Amino acid sequence: MAEYPMDAFLPRFTPSAQMRDPRGMLRLGLSESSAGCCQEATEALHAELAAVSRYPDAAASSLTSALARHTDLPAEAITVGNGIDELLLFSALALITGGGAGFVSESTYAGHGAAVSAAHAPRVTLPLKTDSTVDTDALAAALSMPGSVGFLCNPHNPTGSAVPADALEKLVYAAEQHGSVLVVDEAYMEYAEPDLAVSAVPYVRQGAPVVVLRTFSKIYGLAGLRCGYALAPAACTDRLRSIKNVAVYNVNRYALAAAEAAVRNQWFITRVRAANRRTMAGFLDAMSRHAWFSARRSVTNFLLCELPWDAETVADELANRGVLVRPCADLGYPRGLRISLGTPQEMDLAGKALIDVAAALARRGKR
Ligand SMILES: Cc1ncc(COP(=O)(O)O)c(C=O)c1O
Repeated sequence: MAEYPMDAFLPRFTPSAQMRDPRGMLRLGLSESSAGCCQEATEALHAELAAVSRYPDAAASSLTSALARHTDLPAEAITVGNGIDELLLFSALALITGGGAGFVSESTYAGHGAAVSAAHAPRVTLPLKTDSTVDTDALAAALSMPGSVGFLCNPHNPTGSAVPADALEKLVYAAEQHGSVLVVDEAYMEYAEPDLAVSAVPYVRQGAPVVVLRTFSKIYGLAGLRCGYALAPAACTDRLRSIKNVAVYNVNRYALAAAEAAVRNQWFITRVRAANRRTMAGFLDAMSRHAWFSARRSVTNFLLCELPWDAETVADELANRGVLVRPCADLGYPRGLRISLGTPQEMDLAGKALIDVAAALARRGKR
């Protein structure tokens, strides 16, 4: 990214169609994908239009078969849902039993706690460790309460960090020993290089009481359609499906068709993963020239950036310059901004806007 004169006029710009919001703002606040989806998914979507008067396949059979092949799990291990959000709710409703509780981490994706509350189950929030990582020892101890569900976000939102393999193993072991269930939200797992983050899917293959949640909203670029899936051993899947079957047609036919095409075209996400990594490196390199900028190491498509100013103020100033980001004060980072990665051009614009805001706040002597 070229250096930008501190007080230069920052022109309004036209973000790519993918990232434009109704006001023409650049959306870097919701960790969406700026790469769109694969062409095969768009074609499948169009081909489905003629069937608008027909209900979708309630069993999502065709997508489930494609997922079974992709994940090397039987169809009986797969539940398709209206995004991870719906599957979190199914998990809380179906899997917290008896005297159990729902354990969630503080300062992470709000959907976990919301699902437990909506299920009217006792909700316990576990503090993060001082380095802002998930306290997996505390979560493992919590899983000793039978009938409980521990929710883990891995990779973690908003820090972008991954849980180490030995900590994950400990959690699975705790759930196995005590009749509880570990639900792992892997919304961003496909962005991580395999050596940088460990998925819990192998534990599902072994039959451990683990539910892995994946989504088509992130790397597959289909957030608008709402589709995700849960991978779980048969006993958990039966319980998840008992709730899913109440919402018979929970996933519409367009989402089913596009998601299936997306699963069958893995070449696309391989490319997106590589592009995401390059864009992140480029943005970090450009921003590292500014002493006021720091960001945590992330294996995802977003960065938790820490600046020496109040995050809400910076986010407002960025919005005035046409860039939407996520201030993270409510997640425990009063000076943290979660910035999703767009295209290199979009990150160039976001970086320039950030530099402009930094200059303006420094001039005003704001902290
Ligand atoms: C950690 C995490 N889980 C789940 C979701 C929601 O996923 P979906 O769009 O599949 O409901 C998000 C969305 O930002 C997320 O960050």
